Amino acid sequence: MLFILILALTVTAGLAGDLSQTLCEHVPTIDLGLWVAKVHSSEPLVITKISSQHGGDIVLSRDDGKYFEIQGSAEYNVTTLCLTVQGVYRGDVKPSVTMDVNILPQSEARTKRATEVWTLASVPQTTDIKTLMHGFEPYHHLWGQGELSATTKHSSSPALTVHYPKGSYAVTPQRGAGFMTTPTNLPDGVTSLILKYDVYFENFGFGWGGKLPGLYGGDKTEGAFKCSGGNNPGTCFSLRLMWRENGDGEVYAYIPREHQASDFEHRPDIELNYSYGHSLMRGAIRFRSGSWQTVTEEVHLNTPQQANGRVKFCLKHGSEAEVCKEATRLNFRNHADYFLRGMMFSTFFGGSSSTHFAAPNDCHTYFRNFALIIPSSTVVG
Ligand SMILES: *[C@@H]1O[C@H](CO)[C@@H](O)[C@H](O)[C@H]1NC(C)=O
Ligand SMILES: *[C@@H]1O[C@H](CO)[C@@H](O)[C@H](O)[C@H]1NC(C)=O
Repeated sequence: MLFILILALTVTAGLAGDLSQTLCEHVPTIDLGLWVAKVHSSEPLVITKISSQHGGDIVLSRDDGKYFEIQGSAEYNVTTLCLTVQGVYRGDVKPSVTMDVNILPQSEARTKRATEVWTLASVPQTTDIKTLMHGFEPYHHLWGQGELSATTKHSSSPALTVHYPKGSYAVTPQRGAGFMTTPTNLPDGVTSLILKYDVYFENFGFGWGGKLPGLYGGDKTEGAFKCSGGNNPGTCFSLRLMWRENGDGEVYAYIPREHQASDFEHRPDIELNYSYGHSLMRGAIRFRSGSWQTVTEEVHLNTPQQANGRVKFCLKHGSEAEVCKEATRLNFRNHADYFLRGMMFSTFFGGSSSTHFAAPNDCHTYFRNFALIIPSSTVVG
């Protein structure tokens, strides 16, 4: 069932040509937090900014010049929805603007609130690499097959298992494993994406640090796969996680040098490393050896060449409260056709060629319950 409310008002603009108007409407309780506002303008209008006081995300999802659809989520029960629309119009005639608010019915909202595009709870217990990797298809640039296996040692269904020989690190022949997965259900054009997985560290020794899976993206070709190992060619970005000394967690970011915010090099939540990746939010979460923990990484891409992207990561140990931290005001992409492409699975000790990164023990990680989820604001409507 669809509730439709109509608000019509005549806009009294300030300076000719500029429009800034707050449109408010009483709405039935937005019990699942999702709405679509349909805005009609009597004259052509270029919208420059939309804001609301209700928290959540807002997306201008359709722009026909005189007709606009704005989608959003509210963080809490809202009975009056207010949107402030700013824009520019040409000519002498002040636009008259109307707004209809549609509240998505519960069933529709539930499916649209977040869309799981790919999940993989476990992997088959097999020594055949192709069978083992089946759930990750299509995947690219697989390496370290010899260190990958599946076991039920710590879970009822087999978990993907990665082996790190003692003394291994970034440049030793055996050193963990990696691949890129781009699920076929992941549409082109995704600008917000969540990656989740459970990880178990066994017999760690975190040493100086090592890589963990994270989100990546870029152009539609091989260019998207290239942001690792000290390469940052400008066709990609990658946001893997890392463990550091004592299990301190961070987001490890290969992102463009250009178009970052002016304070980028002076932020307390960033440790710069232009030769490799930057460390974001080091120590905000802490991994532990010997128990399962759930990792969540959520990325919202920036407007191309503007430092308004953000990345949040969370860690949950067993029944303890989830700990989250977010880094905002970042530039991940300089091109409008660069999007999120999936999971960069990548795990090894290191680090570059420094032997200080070598694995202190012969050890393993186990992974299960992978998911890639599109948050609501990019799929509603
Ligand atoms: C939101 O509103 C619904 C319906 O009135 C109510 O059942 C629910 O408890 C409210 N939730 C919060 C968080 O206030
Ligand atoms: C940059 O990262 C590389 C790879 O982890 C590391 O070897 C190097 O010491 C780092 N440089 C600085 C200045 O931290």
